[in-house]
Amino acid sequence: MHDLIVTADLGKSELTVVVIGHCAAKLPRLVAAQAARIAKGEASAPLSLVCEDGRYLLVKPDEKPWLVGGENWRVLGKEIVDGVRAAKASAASVLVNGTAANPQALVEGMLLGDYRYNVLRSGKEGKRTGITIRVPKQKAAIEAAIAVAGAQNLARELADMPPNLLHPQSFAERARKEARKAGLGFKVISGTRALTKAGFPGLVQVGMAGMSEPALVELSYTPKRAAKGKHLALVGKGITFDTGGISIKPSAAMWEMKGDMGGAAAVLGAMTLIAEQRPDVAVTGYLCLAENMPDSMAQRPGDIYQARNGKFIHVDNTDAEGRLVLADVLTYAVEQGATHVVDVATLTGACLVALGERIAGLLGRGQTFLDQVRAAGQESGEELWQLPFYGEYRSLLDHPHADINNVGGRYGGTITAALFLGEFLPDTVKWAHLDIAGPAIQTGGWRYYSKGMTGFATRTLARVAAKLG
Ligand code: BES
Ligand code: MN
Ligand code: ZN
Repeated sequence: MHDLIVTADLGKSELTVVVIGHCAAKLPRLVAAQAARIAKGEASAPLSLVCEDGRYLLVKPDEKPWLVGGENWRVLGKEIVDGVRAAKASAASVLVNGTAANPQALVEGMLLGDYRYNVLRSGKEGKRTGITIRVPKQKAAIEAAIAVAGAQNLARELADMPPNLLHPQSFAERARKEARKAGLGFKVISGTRALTKAGFPGLVQVGMAGMSEPALVELSYTPKRAAKGKHLALVGKGITFDTGGISIKPSAAMWEMKGDMGGAAAVLGAMTLIAEQRPDVAVTGYLCLAENMPDSMAQRPGDIYQARNGKFIHVDNTDAEGRLVLADVLTYAVEQGATHVVDVATLTGACLVALGERIAGLLGRGQTFLDQVRAAGQESGEELWQLPFYGEYRSLLDHPHADINNVGGRYGGTITAALFLGEFLPDTVKWAHLDIAGPAIQTGGWRYYSKGMTGFATRTLARVAAKLG
């Protein structure tokens, strides 16, 4: 995983990368002339040059209007790593400075762009050469970027792991290890017996047919000086594999549902990042871990059970499982003192229909807080778009035999899913629900993401904590 080292230390490089428009260094004549042509739009970047002073790679950040929150710099970072690898250089230095530059996002893009999930590849693809990229004078930006990209790549690695290796129990164990490393508090309620006793029937219903038993992990960050009267809870959907259960999914691309724990992965990643950034607000992270499987032990369509808050839920469709595992934990988070709650979930295919593959849905209660969460996304380069939390649709979840049905019919599925979740926490609590079903899973690759899972929302969640603290 450490195929790339980024450092501010000076040393020998075989390649010099020049970021056009953001580099005051004196360049050899030929290089400066080409840089000027690219700046004027007479030549295009990236451009490789060889001259007697050495080898150069000229690059320029893209100005596309949708690349906000440093995204153009992250994309550039990926372009640089790709260029260094294509040139077969083992070390390169990047000349970048000036107030208009975003060196932190640049380095994040290098580290995110060079990530590959290749531990299970035995050929040469599994053994990429180690390269070093030097970014002189940018020590602070590099350190900040290593923390961010490390946290997000942790989330990605977990989401990319196959479901035979990452199941609720192994996820919980990994979380324990990461929590210890980061200095976070750690608690786990593991197995259907313990979860039943502790009052998490949703996790039990969804996870009871899983070979690996469901679990609830609680991670806590306690600041030195806590913002008064504020406690942030981050709640992640962690379905390590979603077959749909008895309401089984079609087989085409079902493997992608190994990424149905992307919300929990982002919460774990964000908690480790928060532990490093140390904002002045208390944060608790919850991972709702279960495997949604069909067998004789599985929950059935038609089951009715009583949630933690007393409401009876009719399970119309076992494939609407995410809301079941989240519901009790939202209730619990508020019992534990949360004043602000963000839940993150690959919750609905309907969100892909509404917003496409690259924008997450944002719904909830408390417009000021929702605006803050959306701003945190914009500043992090993660696009969130608010959908209406439209009360009239609550009647779509009515059921004659229970307080609430777990599906709301054919249309507006992202909205009815959010309305379902909203029944399990009081409306006095500021609450944002992020539906990341689209951007979490990018099997074709995207921007600086190689094919696979993205760890989407890791950066936004940590930024929400920073804003509250
Ligand atoms: N994990 C899926 C949603 C999903 C779909 C995530 C595609 C990522 C990509 C979720 O558990 C699910 O199956 N939702 C159902 C809900 C329906 C039964 C109301 C869906 O979206 O079809
Ligand atoms: Mn499902
Ligand atoms: Zn699911």
